[in-house]
Amino acid sequence: MLCCRARVLSLHSVRVRTLPYERKKMTSGEVPLHDLIKPLSWLLGKWRSEDGFGHYPTIKDFKYGEELEFFHVGQPNIQFSFYAWHAETKKPMHREIGFIRIKPGTNQVALIGAQNTGLAEVEEGHVEGQEMKTETQTMARLSFGTPPAVRKLSRVFKRNGDILEQLLSMETENTPMTSHLKISYQKVK
Ligand code: HEM
Repeated sequence: MLCCRARVLSLHSVRVRTLPYERKKMTSGEVPLHDLIKPLSWLLGKWRSEDGFGHYPTIKDFKYGEELEFFHVGQPNIQFSFYAWHAETKKPMHREIGFIRIKPGTNQVALIGAQNTGLAEVEEGHVEGQEMKTETQTMARLSFGTPPAVRKLSRVFKRNGDILEQLLSMETENTPMTSHLKISYQKVK
């Protein structure tokens, strides 16, 4: 018994030391930004909007809120999360997580994302100044996903001061490429 108590005490007294790369999140400043992703540094931080606008020919227009976060851990990639909620009820809606990479020595970017609806995709495109445009190169979908199947996405992220804008268009098996989302976020962190 005594030896068990001693063991518990000794475990408690061990100071848990987290190494920088073990922490859950690190935003710019804690570890140097990798040179390769410097052209994307304007995305870093937390962005929030209560005023997103959704549209598509097959559905009713809607409003939504969303928080985006872009951070890095010193590796040559940016990690992101996009969490949207219902404008009135605040219930969680669309969610997406992933990474953004740059082809070394170019302005070519790849956005690798997984969505709560069961889509996983790789988009590719370019970064020019504080604007990044991408479109789907590869898409995977659940065999039991809800129709209509998404065929292609295209996005534009553009920063202007402390405002970040995202435009997203979508092609499904029933509808050609059409605007689905337009939203402007304020920088919150
Ligand atoms: C890459 C991101 C997204 C994809 C691929 C996507 C895909 C889709 C698809 C395929 C539909 C059905 C269209 C149809 O029936 O023809 C849809 C509808 C809808 N989406 Fe998105 N969406 C995305 C992001 C979002 C976000 C961020 C929101 C914000 C909350 C959102 C809210 C909605 C709503 C409210 C509908 C209508 C649902 C209904 O009427 O049942 N979507 N989306």
